[in-house]
Amino acid sequence: MNTATRPGFGMRPGEIDTEATEAAIPERSRVDLAAERDEAGIDELMSSLDDELIGLREVKTRIREVAALLLVDRVRQRFGVSSTRPNLHMCFTGNPGTGKTTVAMRMAGLLHRIGYLERGHLVAVTRDDLVGQYVGHTAPKTKEVLKRAMGGVLFIDEAYYLYRAENERDYGQESIEILLQVMENQREDVVVILAGYGDRMAEFFHSNPGMSSRVAHHIEFDDYDLGELESIAGLMSEQDGYRIGGEAAEVFRELLDEQRARPRFANARTVRNVLERARLRHASRLVDTLDDCGLDDLVRLEPVDFKS
Ligand SMILES: Nc1ncnc2c1ncn2[C@@H]1O[C@H](COP(=O)(O)OP(=O)(O)OP(=O)(O)O)[C@@H](O)[C@H]1O
Ligand SMILES: [Mg+2]
Repeated sequence: MNTATRPGFGMRPGEIDTEATEAAIPERSRVDLAAERDEAGIDELMSSLDDELIGLREVKTRIREVAALLLVDRVRQRFGVSSTRPNLHMCFTGNPGTGKTTVAMRMAGLLHRIGYLERGHLVAVTRDDLVGQYVGHTAPKTKEVLKRAMGGVLFIDEAYYLYRAENERDYGQESIEILLQVMENQREDVVVILAGYGDRMAEFFHSNPGMSSRVAHHIEFDDYDLGELESIAGLMSEQDGYRIGGEAAEVFRELLDEQRARPRFANARTVRNVLERARLRHASRLVDTLDDCGLDDLVRLEPVDFKS
């Protein structure tokens, strides 16, 4: 959607768009916001978010806020009230496996559903996809990626690698400048989400105030606590058709707690990996020991499946 076809955009806030008045509904009309919400499928989307993602309370609240903002914006436009296009570029910070990529995909879907993005797909990239190794390679690479992301979300993982403080001539800078321009001038075409560790992202913003000022939403993804990790495991095993009963759950919890202290711990991703290993052991155990096997054997993970 470009600005020319969107009534109300490009005008001063609060101004009544005379060109849009023809399409606008009368000033005294009433609009049923619940029906609007229903039509956009927001509740459905939010409840699937609640069902499929454990915890992340603050993240979910922010998503709700963004959904409300866009919905109200859309209704305002129907009355011909103009406002600047909301800035939806975001930054997701948090440790590995806290759900940043997953939530970015959900966000892309939501923005599409509500009519902000035309396609709602997600293009996930890192520095190597954007920055070339030789003179003249970076601009075409970055532009190509942006072209692919048009109508959707451009997700830049570990975005701070774009900037190398020690090297003034680094090609990353060229990429950053192109991104900045598009983030400013083509907001309606692409939403940029930067992701990475909090402290490194803070440094990156400090050195790149232009980027910092274009990112309106900073969302932090906290590490999951033990209870949340267990719930995530419950959800994942249920989706995969496994049961972790009584004693096995106990062993699993101890294992997770132990993993949490390790430097390579990656939150929900570690949970998935532990479950994958348990599946392997479970399958070997069945094949090695059981000649006669029923449904219960096939779906139940035992304590030994979690022991290394
Ligand atoms: N809150 C959650 N509830 C259920 N599953 C989750 C949750 N958070 C993450 N997961 C699952 O954990 C895995 C890792 O999540 P994801 O890839 O989104 O993490 P990330 O923050 O992007 O990690 P990284 O920083 O390493 O890229 C995915 O399979 C995802 O579905
Ligand atoms: Mg990720």
